[in-house]
Amino acid sequence: MRGKYVLVTGATGGIGQQVAKLLAGAGAHLFITGRNAAKLEALGTACNLPASNRFAADITDATEVTALHGRFFEVFPQIDILINAAGIGIIKPMDQLEEKDFIHTLNLNLVAPFLLLKNFLPDFKARKSGLIINIPGVLGKVPMAGAAAYSASKYGLVGMIQSVREEIKRTDIRFTNLFLGGVDTPFWDTIDLRVQRDKMVQAEEAAKAIWFLCQQPLSGVVSEMVLQPFNHQAI
Ligand SMILES: NC(=O)c1ccc[n+]([C@@H]2O[C@H](COP(=O)([O-])OP(=O)(O)OC[C@H]3O[C@@H](n4cnc5c(N)ncnc54)[C@H](OP(=O)(O)O)[C@@H]3O)[C@@H](O)[C@H]2O)c1
Repeated sequence: MRGKYVLVTGATGGIGQQVAKLLAGAGAHLFITGRNAAKLEALGTACNLPASNRFAADITDATEVTALHGRFFEVFPQIDILINAAGIGIIKPMDQLEEKDFIHTLNLNLVAPFLLLKNFLPDFKARKSGLIINIPGVLGKVPMAGAAAYSASKYGLVGMIQSVREEIKRTDIRFTNLFLGGVDTPFWDTIDLRVQRDKMVQAEEAAKAIWFLCQQPLSGVVSEMVLQPFNHQAI
């Protein structure tokens, strides 16, 4: 990781925060983003980052993603790894799921990754190398009752990444989709489901999986990884 130029979105979240700490400790050049400026500042301090290496942005907003791209390249000469750890889970049955829930979910889990690609993929393409990690989660692979909005966004994310992967297959640009089961993070704070959070994957362990994914061999690619709680987390 030493010397790699890395952007972490959702860095103020449960998984993103742990990833940022691991990568900073491993000697990566780190740039962090999320909306919460106070949390970003605290994380930047914990990771020994200068103030220039963080930028508060709403990545559902095209203008803010363009600004994020500009700020990143004011500080760093290139991007080697983009880790998109921003996302939201709204889990409600159809009779409770509102249009605004659906649109918000799609905006953050699908449109934002699209905006990140629109802004940063040209930089990866210019160097014909790099790694882009997204976290569809297992609900981007298998359905669950109440996950109409979430799965729509994550299945969409998987479809988008698989298509773009076809476009760049003559380069050394790697795409990795991480299919996580339940991870104990603030993600679950607003979800009204009976789950045992102490049986979930710990955020530190999910971050270690991402750290592992950043070490891909030159001759290979980890296109997908599935990491599930060892114990079934539903009561
Ligand atoms: N936890 C799980 O069980 C689980 C399982 C499978 C997949 N995943 C996926 O893993 C990713 C990370 O999840 P997590 O558990 O770390 O969630 P989390 O703790 O809730 O963190 C979510 C992150 O997204 C950021 N975010 C929210 N809205 C944003 C916006 N409009 N613009 C920019 N950033 C925004 C939040 O930062 P601010 O509030 O500062 O903006 C926060 O950093 C998500 O994509 C999630 O779908 C999680």
